[in-house]
Amino acid sequence: MTVMRSVMTGVGGYLPETVVTNDDLARTVETSDAWIRERTGIRARHRAAPDQATSDLAVEAARAALADAGLTAADIDLIIVATTTPDLTFPAVAAMVQRKLGAPVGIAFDVQAVCSGFVYAMAVADGFLCRGNARRALVIGAECMTRLLDYQDRTTCVLFGDGAGAVVLEAREGAGTPDDRGLIGFALRCDGTKQDLLYVDGGPSTTGSVGHLRMQGQQVFRNAVVNIAEAVEAAAKAAGIAVRDVDWFIPHQANQRILIGVAHRLGLDESKVVSTVADHANTSAASIPLALATAIADGRVKRGDLLLMEAMGGGLTWGACAVRF
Ligand code: UT7
Repeated sequence: MTVMRSVMTGVGGYLPETVVTNDDLARTVETSDAWIRERTGIRARHRAAPDQATSDLAVEAARAALADAGLTAADIDLIIVATTTPDLTFPAVAAMVQRKLGAPVGIAFDVQAVCSGFVYAMAVADGFLCRGNARRALVIGAECMTRLLDYQDRTTCVLFGDGAGAVVLEAREGAGTPDDRGLIGFALRCDGTKQDLLYVDGGPSTTGSVGHLRMQGQQVFRNAVVNIAEAVEAAAKAAGIAVRDVDWFIPHQANQRILIGVAHRLGLDESKVVSTVADHANTSAASIPLALATAIADGRVKRGDLLLMEAMGGGLTWGACAVRF
């Protein structure tokens, strides 16, 4: 029986030029390169220029993904941007991306699931593509996380960076087996009772301001290792694959200790884990497509490889998806 699959035909990433090292941060807040490396694995992060907004980062990543797919903006009828740092409260970043790319009138909107946003957006795009409501989608994770940070708070300001990653998904027929190229299974979760562990203390309908990111790091850490493993197993089951069969594990890049902890819990060898947290830090919804773009560019991820992606973030939200590249 043939089924429609959302096949990844292009991938691109973009990191803003400015690199901020741990030592740079240690000049203004009481921290050290040694502490940040040991507790998180982070060495540096990129920061958007003052005149760059999230849509600018998204457009750069989208152009790279389109070029990789051999397509132009004219071919795109669905744009989904996963972001928690929009240029403006509205319109959606996706609408700005459509205008800046010169893409035709189609479907465009944002998904807000914080660090899990890219996994959520992949699943949402899959719904449009598989039901025939769109043919070619851009799914983008783009963030200016440094704009949400309180630079007096050393427990959070050292953890995040800016960047964007994008994929082109095209609707193609598959055989309905795990050997099909494309998104073959996912699992999404949210537990709203854990809002206080990770949130931003501002918003249009409360304070009328943007606010700052607040996190109870240890609690988030504990939830991450336990919850993510369950969602990964569920996504693998939905895809009809065994976790041990994946070629590459591409986790959300929050903390090296979390991504290795999850891999161990899943029985995955560390050599299968794609890690970019050292150079990118936590770029929220952008981290997975940025890590994917990095692993394709350096030759690790190849056509036909089985990829397992996962994330967890504010909400708390978390989820995973299996993609045959
Ligand atoms: O993407 C969304 C998901 N987010 C995450 O997954 C983040 C999850 N959490 C984490 O990654 C870790 O919990 C952190 C990296 C945030 C913190 O690491 P930790 O090992 O859990 O440290 P801690 O919070 O237990 O803090 C240990 C000590 C504390 O000092 P005392 O109370 O022991 O004297 C902190 O005040 O380290 C101190 N500390 C710092 N010291 C130097 C906290 N931040 C810093 C810092 N520099 N930047």
